[in-house]
Amino acid sequence: MKQVSASLLALLSLGSLASADASNNYTAQLLSSGTIKLGDWQDAYDKASAFVKTLSTSDKLSLVVGGEVGNFTGLHMLDSSSNPLGYYYVTNWPAGLAMVMTWDNDAIHKQAKALGSEFRGKGINLAYAPTLEPLGRSAWGGRQGETYGPDSYFAGAMRGRFVKGISDAGVIPSTKHFIMNEYETNREGTTSMGGGGGGPGGAPPNKRRRQATNGTVLDNSTSSSSDAYTVHIDDKAYHETYLAPFYDTVKNGMGGAMCAMNRVNGLYSCESQDLLAKYLKVELGFPGIVHADISGQRTAINSANAGMDYSSQNTWSNSTLGVAVNNGSVTTARLDDMAIRNMMGYFHLNQDQGYPDYASNTDYVEVRRNHAELARTCAASSVVLLTNKNSALPLKSKRSISIFGSHAAPRYFGPNTELDVYGGVGPTMQGHMAVVGGSGMGSLAYLTTPIQLFNERAAKDGFQLRWWLNDTSTTSSSGGVAGSGTELKESTVGVTANSDACVVFLNAWAGEGGDRSELTNGTTDALVNTVADNCNNTIVVINTVGPRLVDAWIEHDNVTGVLYGGALGQESGNALDDVLFGAVNPSGRLVHTIAKNESDYDANTRVQEDNLELDFSEGNYIDYKYFDQQAIEPRYAFGYGLSYTTFEYGSRVTAQLSSGGNKRTMGGYSTGARAVRGREDLWDIVATVTTTVMNTGGVAGAEVAQLYLSFPDAAGEPARQLRGFEKVVLEPYKTATVTFELRRRDLSVWDTAAQNWKMESGDYVFHVAASSRDLRANATLTIQSGVSLYGEYGLE
Ligand SMILES: *[C@@H]1O[C@H](CO)[C@@H](O)[C@H](O)[C@H]1NC(C)=O
Ligand SMILES: *[C@@H]1O[C@H](CO)[C@@H](O)[C@H](O)[C@H]1NC(C)=O
Ligand SMILES: *[C@@H]1O[C@H](CO)[C@@H](O)[C@H](O)[C@H]1NC(C)=O
Ligand SMILES: *[C@@H]1O[C@H](CO)[C@@H](O)[C@H](O)[C@H]1NC(C)=O
Ligand SMILES: *[C@@H]1O[C@H](CO)[C@@H](O)[C@H](O)[C@H]1NC(C)=O
Ligand SMILES: *[C@@H]1O[C@H](CO)[C@@H](O)[C@H](O)[C@H]1NC(C)=O
Ligand SMILES: *[C@@H]1O[C@H](CO)[C@@H](O)[C@H](O)[C@H]1NC(C)=O
Ligand SMILES: *[C@@H]1O[C@H](CO)[C@@H](O)[C@H](O)[C@H]1NC(C)=O
Ligand SMILES: *[C@@H]1O[C@H](CO)[C@@H](O)[C@H](O)[C@H]1NC(C)=O
Ligand SMILES: *[C@@H]1O[C@H](CO)[C@@H](O)[C@H](O)[C@H]1NC(C)=O
Ligand SMILES: *[C@@H]1O[C@H](CO)[C@@H](O)[C@H](O)[C@H]1NC(C)=O
Ligand SMILES: *[C@@H]1O[C@H](CO)[C@@H](O)[C@H](O)[C@H]1NC(C)=O
Repeated sequence: MKQVSASLLALLSLGSLASADASNNYTAQLLSSGTIKLGDWQDAYDKASAFVKTLSTSDKLSLVVGGEVGNFTGLHMLDSSSNPLGYYYVTNWPAGLAMVMTWDNDAIHKQAKALGSEFRGKGINLAYAPTLEPLGRSAWGGRQGETYGPDSYFAGAMRGRFVKGISDAGVIPSTKHFIMNEYETNREGTTSMGGGGGGPGGAPPNKRRRQATNGTVLDNSTSSSSDAYTVHIDDKAYHETYLAPFYDTVKNGMGGAMCAMNRVNGLYSCESQDLLAKYLKVELGFPGIVHADISGQRTAINSANAGMDYSSQNTWSNSTLGVAVNNGSVTTARLDDMAIRNMMGYFHLNQDQGYPDYASNTDYVEVRRNHAELARTCAASSVVLLTNKNSALPLKSKRSISIFGSHAAPRYFGPNTELDVYGGVGPTMQGHMAVVGGSGMGSLAYLTTPIQLFNERAAKDGFQLRWWLNDTSTTSSSGGVAGSGTELKESTVGVTANSDACVVFLNAWAGEGGDRSELTNGTTDALVNTVADNCNNTIVVINTVGPRLVDAWIEHDNVTGVLYGGALGQESGNALDDVLFGAVNPSGRLVHTIAKNESDYDANTRVQEDNLELDFSEGNYIDYKYFDQQAIEPRYAFGYGLSYTTFEYGSRVTAQLSSGGNKRTMGGYSTGARAVRGREDLWDIVATVTTTVMNTGGVAGAEVAQLYLSFPDAAGEPARQLRGFEKVVLEPYKTATVTFELRRRDLSVWDTAAQNWKMESGDYVFHVAASSRDLRANATLTIQSGVSLYGEYGLE
């Protein structure tokens, strides 16, 4: 009987989809069409549409290019996720990749709210943040230093919290780059719009800037025929891996979207009604404003019809958009919708009520409060302990410490440099790297560095300090290392003499505009090996913008400890000191796989300089999902990280359906109403999984309990996928219970025929784990024809 009702339900949901699939129509994107239940955005819609009703066509044309209309003075917009870009007197937070290595939802929310308050204090209405794409398909991607790791579930969860934080501060979060913007190489092509997209930066008009991964400009051609790369991807992977995290940002208050420079299946992101209207505005129910990345917009009329809502005066002038509205090639309904969408975030966040005055980037407006302290806490808790032989770390009662590498000290010119969005950075930075390159770079009021902190500590703690602040290693030409007493030969080897600990600092650098040419670096790897050959307690500290391999020296007997982090921002030196000397117990976890060899990453994801047609044929199998599929042993797995204490998981895991609710709605297709976040029922909690974690060591610390799901075979999914995580802080010998809540969407896959999310019948195995390769116990739920039957547990 139950089974019959369940299949009936599936049929009904297919029926309702047939009409919903008309979502790919021009009218459905209009907020006035009623396609989307606006929920807590309804009030903003009422205010915006009332205001727009009072406007003439020429007022509306002015409004959508940022003009002043009545007492609406337009939105001030600015990058980035790590601070108000280019501003004096602001906090420079850890970059996105570092923040997310905390695996700490609350830290992300606190950071974003504090960052948002700095934007607000400067009178900025909309922040181009977070950078949700690139997601991280390629280990060589140049922009991963500011993004949130290649796992779709994880990036969505963290970005959702970030968006909530920015909007809790009253600032409109605008997520970039929509969508499939996985590479920097060839992202731009040629545009005749001359940067009319209203985005940041400033591309030279009519210039093709095709670049090699080393930053060399390959082609400055002014021909108008060159295109940006296009991504070919199937509908299933598009939804499950790349679109899915945007559901989280829309749900949490995303009020803006920056369409990308690249093409998807041949069409420019900012010109594609499929991307902007069908997927973003209807499938996700996005209620806000779409604006273009620099040079993302190609035409005035197609972009308006596709779903762009904001552009520059040059592009949407009287003679383009004005004429098009007059002759009907852009409808007045669309123009009204554009105008309304320009004001949705503004009214949603009550920016019409006493918003701070706009301050220029050099005005003295103090907004920092206690943010330095919070930035330091975030930075320290993002650092991952990769290895720790014989408790090499934390450093205790040392008499003599030597530090190595240009990364230990500030660069000679700084702390800020000219903004370069053309990839002219990397593969390493000479000097301490605490920001990524390009528009994610940030603005430092100051920068704490290891050399500064080691000097302070040597003075305080009484150890002998020596340094070698160069990445190139040398041995003494005249043999031997030491002279008499403190007199040393001027060589790397000389500096190792009589050291209780040798700490080597190295970085990998990249940024907007260019991808990476290598995931290792011969020069800094040689430095580690030279030091380790001569110092039996060699500790390596890495700050990186993406996967940085360690196999050139990780098995060296004398490498005793390794710390691994992202770009840590202004508190970098302080945070590294906190972890190295034990004031903070490391609790960061990897958000990407560290391979043993570059060749272990999928060759298909390598940067292809001469290819504008990129085939994402691996589908959902990126990062750890690819390593699992190919049975490749990683050096360090996604989710991995050690602590100065140890943890054990309980042997018992329980999985159960959520109590209450109609069990028949469990399986099959999603049937909820379309709302701001996609179909409403996608967010219903349908099951919970519970486990316990114990701190079995002698010091307080934090473990990140992770939950991976193996779908039933019928779903055609990767072997295991992250579906929950929780960071638990535990005093010594204390135990905590961790409960993971699974939403319908977490158990659903994209059905390409039905164009809907669906829960397949079969066994769902939930693995509690300490990393994607460290599974501790599991439990199974069986779901059949829409009804879940039972849960059981096992150990592994
Ligand atoms: C387009 O969408 C609108 C609003 O949802 C709907 O009323 C209309 O029927 C759709 N048109 C087509 C041709 O499906
Ligand atoms: C950078 O890469 C290009 C293309 O691969 C190559 O021609 C050029 O020599 C490289 N430049 C440097 C400085 O390595
Ligand atoms: C392209 O232009 C840049 C800056 O003007 C110049 O340095 C570079 O040599 C040019 N490259 C080519 C291939 O013409
Ligand atoms: C556009 O047209 C309006 C009248 O329709 C006029 O007031 C305005 O000055 C024009 N703008 C430009 C830039 O020509
Ligand atoms: C309407 O105006 C636009 C912009 O000038 C032009 O591209 C288009 O061809 C015109 N369409 C008609 C039907 O006149
Ligand atoms: C104009 O100002 C009034 C009074 O402060 C306010 O209520 C209204 O929302 C404002 N309108 C806009 C578009 O900012
Ligand atoms: C680093 O050492 C190399 C090799 O001795 C030398 O050529 C280079 O000038 C040094 N760099 C700095 C910044 O001192
Ligand atoms: C390592 O980084 C340095 C500095 O960025 C660069 O000059 C060098 O080419 C890189 N690669 C190797 C193999 O050392
Ligand atoms: C480790 O360091 C010591 C010096 O402390 C050195 O004698 C030894 O050869 C090193 N071991 C290796 C494997 O290089
Ligand atoms: C490491 O080297 C130090 C001094 O160079 C020496 O005192 C110590 O015994 C060595 N430790 C081991 C385990 O070899
Ligand atoms: C990495 O793989 C390549 C190609 O398989 C091989 O030539 C190279 O020796 C490997 N490197 C290391 C460090 O194992
Ligand atoms: C679950 O754990 C049990 C007990 O260790 C193990 O035998 C089984 O293979 C695991 N199941 C899966 C699907 O990994």
